[in-house]
Amino acid sequence: MSKVTMEKITSLAKRRGFIFPSSEIYGGITGAWDYGPVGALFKNNIKNEWFKSIVQEREDVVGLDAAILMNPKVWDASGHTEAFTDPLVECKKCHKRYRADQLVESLKKEEEGITTPSDLEKLKVALKGVKCPECGGELTEPKMFNLLVPAHLGVIEDKKRSVWLRGETCQGIYVNYELVRVSARKKIPFGIAQIGKAFRNEITPGNFIFRSIEFEQMEMQYFVNPKEAEKWFEYWKPLRLEWYKNLGVKKENLRLRQHEKDERAHYAKDAYDIEYNYPFGWKELEGIHNRGDWDLSRHSKFSGKDLSYFNEETKEKFMPFVVETSAGADRAALIFLLDAYHEEEVKGETRVVLKFHKKIAPYKVAVLPLSKNEKLSPIAKGVFDLLKDKFMCDYDETQSIGKRYRRQDEIGTPYCVTIDFDTLKDNAVTVRDRDTMKQDRIAVKDIDKYLVDKLK
Ligand code: GAP
Repeated sequence: MSKVTMEKITSLAKRRGFIFPSSEIYGGITGAWDYGPVGALFKNNIKNEWFKSIVQEREDVVGLDAAILMNPKVWDASGHTEAFTDPLVECKKCHKRYRADQLVESLKKEEEGITTPSDLEKLKVALKGVKCPECGGELTEPKMFNLLVPAHLGVIEDKKRSVWLRGETCQGIYVNYELVRVSARKKIPFGIAQIGKAFRNEITPGNFIFRSIEFEQMEMQYFVNPKEAEKWFEYWKPLRLEWYKNLGVKKENLRLRQHEKDERAHYAKDAYDIEYNYPFGWKELEGIHNRGDWDLSRHSKFSGKDLSYFNEETKEKFMPFVVETSAGADRAALIFLLDAYHEEEVKGETRVVLKFHKKIAPYKVAVLPLSKNEKLSPIAKGVFDLLKDKFMCDYDETQSIGKRYRRQDEIGTPYCVTIDFDTLKDNAVTVRDRDTMKQDRIAVKDIDKYLVDKLK
């Protein structure tokens, strides 16, 4: 039926408790979002699947949970205080701010032949004579704007210490690299993975949770011999693409795109984006980078601690290269929502269903007595107790059964178990499949085995 739009997803996300605007009762705040009861389960499932595939199922990657706050020298060494910038232009009349490269990108559609430059001089040329798309006012010349978010610590007003909220989680991995390697007794090649919050003063936060100021990253840094960096870069690219496909994302909505030389971040020797075909076009979902020895060399230099590696077997000494896979947990949540969204006509009515892969579905099973009733409710609660240990279950006994099925379809619950008046006679329940809407009658004593098989 009709296509998924950002409006449909944003509205469903709020209505069904996936994602709310942060602090909405105060008018909200741009670029921050809260995950509701259903969204918290959903996002945790995504993060757990990522951690499982990258740490639990491998013997060469270990986990980490580093602090958001770090010594500010980290960000000088990483190059972020100097080079973590986006080009900004501002309307002199209405003061709306734009990212200069995005503005040029939007002109491309009308005027063929314009490429997206990343350096200031080329941007100035491309934007000559361009007016504010909002009010037609004159624009300032593009200037570089740093994305790091400052914070101030301490209790005495004039002695406050300035720090940065981390702009990428992986710096926590680099500064702990040696402690992790030694304590986990790892030899190169090996990886360190972590999930956590990152913060960026984005010029144009927007498109729901696609670009926010506060967001979550799932990053893995794989430390390798420089001679093998190419090989490992090629190894991780298809593996990460497969992860999304294995969790049900349609392959025609995913692609890998290599960065142009002048598009790469300051640390990257080579970079690919896994892109998704969002309703607003093909855009980044995850970055895969060959960071060379940029990070460990810079941290060695700035901290005075030699982070080079000595291979006992080959007697070779080198500064490890890093192959990085950097996914956004919120972008992953967005594409899983978009990709699962499905509308169909059933008996003249539109049925909206999120056809999530069962591993990321917020609830696996909903237990629904046909009506709230002193006979049916105790049996339904017994079924819930039977299943709650094995699966995340929802229990819902208010509203008509039709409305409750609709809700479960819209939050993507794979199976609904209904306890009806026949249950009183035959000790069996009806199990409804989300995707086919087919119903099976299953004895209560067999229900957990039946669902364990189905949800395997
Ligand atoms: N450590 C490398 C790094 O941070 P990046 O390409 O800047 O690379 C990696 O970011 C991923 O983090 C992106 O692919 C995206 O999924 C997510 N991300 C980056 N900025 C974001 C933002 N403002 N809002 C939401 N997600 C963001």
